[in-house]
Amino acid sequence: MVAKDFKPCVPLSAIATSSTHGEDSPYFAGWRAYDDDPYDAITNPSGVIQMGLAENQVSFDLLEKYLEEHHEVSNLVNGIGGFRENALFQDYHGLNSFRKAMASFMEEIRGGKVKFDYNRIVLTAGATAANELLTFIIANPGDALLVPTPYYPGFDRDLRWRTGVNIIPVNCNSSNKFQITKQALEEAYTKAEKASLQVKGLLMTNPSNPLGTAMARPVLEEILNFISSKNMHLISDEIYSGSVFSSEEFISIAEILEEREYADAQRVHIVYSLSKDLGLPGFRVGAIYSYNDAVVTTARRMSSFTLVSSQTQKMLFPMLSDVNFTKNYLKTNRERLKRRYDYVVERLRECGIECLRGNAGLFCWMNLKPLLEEATTEGELKLWEMILNDLKLDISPGSSCHCTEPGWFRVCFANMSIETLDVALSRFTSFMEKRRKT
Ligand SMILES: Cc1ncc(COP(=O)(O)O)c(C=O)c1O
Repeated sequence: MVAKDFKPCVPLSAIATSSTHGEDSPYFAGWRAYDDDPYDAITNPSGVIQMGLAENQVSFDLLEKYLEEHHEVSNLVNGIGGFRENALFQDYHGLNSFRKAMASFMEEIRGGKVKFDYNRIVLTAGATAANELLTFIIANPGDALLVPTPYYPGFDRDLRWRTGVNIIPVNCNSSNKFQITKQALEEAYTKAEKASLQVKGLLMTNPSNPLGTAMARPVLEEILNFISSKNMHLISDEIYSGSVFSSEEFISIAEILEEREYADAQRVHIVYSLSKDLGLPGFRVGAIYSYNDAVVTTARRMSSFTLVSSQTQKMLFPMLSDVNFTKNYLKTNRERLKRRYDYVVERLRECGIECLRGNAGLFCWMNLKPLLEEATTEGELKLWEMILNDLKLDISPGSSCHCTEPGWFRVCFANMSIETLDVALSRFTSFMEKRRKT
């Protein structure tokens, strides 16, 4: 076992010893608590249920069925010919065929309303690598990126740790359902200026993790106007774009750019990955789509550090380029996520817990403000600890997502069977009943 807080006797680099990876946040502490005592209906029924990991297992059966019905996929990858090709072939740009398939899948998600040129796609090992790579390209160590809160806790690691870039939060709150406003953007920008930091870009997640809401058109337009006025880049992390419950409710930044006839599009870079919509985080398939030639070229050079193996591309290509399959998959996946979301929100409401009205993602944003002993981050973390230790549920406190309002929690509902979800919801129900009685 390797100690977590090592004191190296031989000096290590500043990056190795920096704490900007954010691994000590309650978000990751919850994962460790689950790893130490994982729930199992038969062998460990009182164990921790993992509701802190945004993983999508609700449509896994569709992927398995496809592979069962298409033996040629496995022959392609594992047969002798395939083995040789995979072993020897190395293409820094990603296979043309796979990038074409990725481009058309991204178009399909957007209801065919936008076109993506596969030459502008650079493959990366997941969205994690894509976000870091773009940060390396648009900012220097010591510069700043604006990131609207609440945000995915992994960004602290992905955008800051190895790049040396600072995150300046754009604080959003429940008064307008956490929507980004011009005022919040201006405030964050001024804060960076006062700290003598150069703001190089804004990174937003649409639909948002952890809110589970897709951005409205006026907000997207406001953001585009803002970044143009400040001469900044915009990274739009659209990793959950295929998990919006109804395709009509999602507007990609690509759509707005197309409507504007690509005016100022060179500032904009889209991040995508198959980790969420297809539920394949283990395959590590991400992509950058940039409208800026210099960014595409540099991203391609840098992607040497974070390539997707030929084997993975070959394995996923048939599935991703089969339009019948992707159409049906996206439709069914959306319906199933919505059904689960409605079910969870209703069960929580019945026991007295309200959630923000969401329309996307693998989670809901739950309001436990009324349960806080004191309305502070400490009060929130006390409640989080109690839920983890007594209810044995790993949920993510809003403060780990840099939410400035104490009492909000992210709850993932798509990474488990419906039976396990029912156990988790029953634990919430009995907890709330007990509270009412006492
Ligand atoms: C907003 C966001 N971006 C990026 C990632 C990382 O995804 P990947 O597995 O593709 O690296 C996540 C994962 O939770 C996420 O929620």
